[in-house]
This record gives sequence, C-alpha cells and structure tokens, in this order.
Amino acid sequence: MDQPLRIAIVGALGKGWTHARALQGLRGATLSAVVDRAPEANQVAVELDVPFYNSVDAMLKAKIADAVVCAVPHPAHRAVEVPCLEAGLHVLSEKPLAATPSDAKAIVDAAQRNRRVLAVMYQYRQKPAIRKAKQLIEEGLVGDWYYGAMHHGINRSQAYYDARTWRGTWAGEGGGVLVNQAPHPIDVMMHLVGRFPKRVIAFNNRLRHRMNTEDISTAALEYENGAQITMHADTIQLPISEWWTLHGNNGTLRLEGNEKETKLPCSASIPTFQPPFTTRREQPNPRPRTCARASTQGKAKTGNTPA
Ligand SMILES: NC(=O)c1ccc[n+]([C@@H]2O[C@H](COP(=O)([O-])OP(=O)(O)OC[C@H]3O[C@@H](n4cnc5c(N)ncnc54)[C@H](O)[C@@H]3O)[C@@H](O)[C@H]2O)c1
Repeated sequence: MDQPLRIAIVGALGKGWTHARALQGLRGATLSAVVDRAPEANQVAVELDVPFYNSVDAMLKAKIADAVVCAVPHPAHRAVEVPCLEAGLHVLSEKPLAATPSDAKAIVDAAQRNRRVLAVMYQYRQKPAIRKAKQLIEEGLVGDWYYGAMHHGINRSQAYYDARTWRGTWAGEGGGVLVNQAPHPIDVMMHLVGRFPKRVIAFNNRLRHRMNTEDISTAALEYENGAQITMHADTIQLPISEWWTLHGNNGTLRLEGNEKETKLPCSASIPTFQPPFTTRREQPNPRPRTCARASTQGKAKTGNTPA
C-alpha cells in the first residue's frame, strides 16, 4: 500500500480513545479525524492533532477518511455505519454490531451493496491462548465435540451503570449483560466450534442492579447433530471467573481466566473420552496426553502433540 489508510474515529470519549491511541502506533494506517457529537470531544482531536467534526455528514463531506472505527453506543451504530458504507468507506464496528437484528441486517446489506469491508471488534479472538485453543481444535485435540460450556461471571458496580445514561436501558443499550459484556465470550465459543446452533433457549433476568435490562443470562444451545452448549453470563459475581470447555471424542479443552487474561491451564493430562460400551480390550492403548500452554503474557509453549 502506497498511502496509509486514513481512519476516522467516530465516538471519541470512551472506547474510541483507545482506538485512536492504537492507530497512532500502526504502520499502514493513520488517524485522520475525530468525529463526536459531544463538543468536549474536540479536546481529543486537539491532543491527537487531527481535525474535529461534530457529525458523520460533515466528516464525509470533507472526504478525509477511507475507513471509520465506530465507537458510539450500539443503538447508534446503524446511523453512523450505513452512511459511511454508502459513501464508500470501510467500517470497523465496535461490538456488538447493533442493538437489534434489523439494524445489524441494514449494516451488513450496506457493506455488501457497496463491497466494503465491515468488521466487528472481537479482540478476544486475538488473545494468544484463544488462538492456540482454536489451532488445537483444528488439529483434532477435541475431535468430534458433543458438549461445550461457557461461563462469564464478572462484576459491574451500580456506579458503572449510573456513569452513562445509556447503560442498562433498552433504548440505549438494547439489552444488558448479553448485549454489552457477553458478546466477547459468546464470540469465542462460536469461534471455537465454528458453527451456529439450530435452537437456543435462554433465561434473562435482572437480579442485583438498578437498571431495566438483564444482569444475568443462561442459555442452552442445540445443534443439528444433537451436540449441546450451555452458556452463562452475569455482571454480579465476585470473585470473577471466566472459562470455556469443549468435550469431544478425543479429549477435553479448557480455557480459563478473567477479563484481562486467558489461559489454557491444563498442565497435567487431558482426559480421554472413552466411547460407552467398549470393553477393556477394545479400548485404544491409553497414552499420556499433555496439552499446550499459552497465556496472554507468555510465549505459547507446545507440549507433546496429542496422539
Ligand atoms: N471491544 C470492547 O472491549 C469494548 C469495550 C467497551 C465498549 N465497547 C463498545 O464501544 C461502543 C461505545 O462504548 P463506550 O463505552 O465507549 O461509550 P461512551 O458513552 O463512553 O462513548 C461513546 C462516545 O460516542 C459519542 N457519540 C454518541 N452518539 C454519537 C453519534 N450519534 N455521533 C457521534 N458521536 C456519538 C459520545 O459523545 C461519546 O464520546 C459500544 O458499542 C460498546 O459496546 C467495546
């Protein structure tokens, strides 16, 4: 690429600020503008030494960007992203893509119609342990999986919900833990298994926070072949805990950690699945299995390759 990709940040006072700083260290891309409807966001543009626009329309008219990072609250994603895609810009959308299925469809349709790149910010996939887990699954560590589970037990104080008027409201957020915090772990579970279920049953409740939307959610997923996944997410738990497991006919994979760090913890052996009703003589020769270790902090180390 001869010229760096010019990227505008839309929504600069929250997560957009992280994107803006990250862009400053990138080769091949440059921060070209800050867009925010809040006048105080002008200060971000001054600090980063780029032009400030108070609307997407004004930024598009200036033809100052080839792509945008959209970091406004998700009910506003459609109003920001569709005009950008229609104007020929690529879009990196903060998660979740939208607060409603119809908004999500409108955004995807606009990207397809204009042949632009549309990506959603699911950065958990880039964690070393999760990349390693995906690789191990593709190499057959788990084999034909029949059950998976996800647990996302985190904590958000009442002050967190009170700090932004849009949080914890249907109009402002489109949901609670399921739409705001759990998209990352749900994305990891779907990324690990690589396909969507045919049926989902879920329970969503608000138990411990003063807000309108749910702070606890549990779901059961059923796949075409009968395989199942259970998922749980809440913003009530202390201490926090986050883990995923996937059980198959070759073995079990377990990932655990917290919101900041994820590990493949199995330093000992991965239990081997024994098909039911096999006699002892029919069982394959048991060979010790060790699994790879990876963490977001250290380098990935691979143990013995599973048989
Ligand atoms: N990937 C992650 O880990 C992660 C973490 C936090 C937030 N997010 C996502 O980022 C998005 C923003 O969340 P946040 O916590 O940064 O919100 P925020 O309220 O802190 O900041 C949103 C910014 O957008 C601006 N804004 C709102 N509507 C606008 C509009 N129509 N046009 C221009 N500017 C507008 C606001 O003035 C503010 O500066 C959400 O979709 C959220 O889910 C992702």
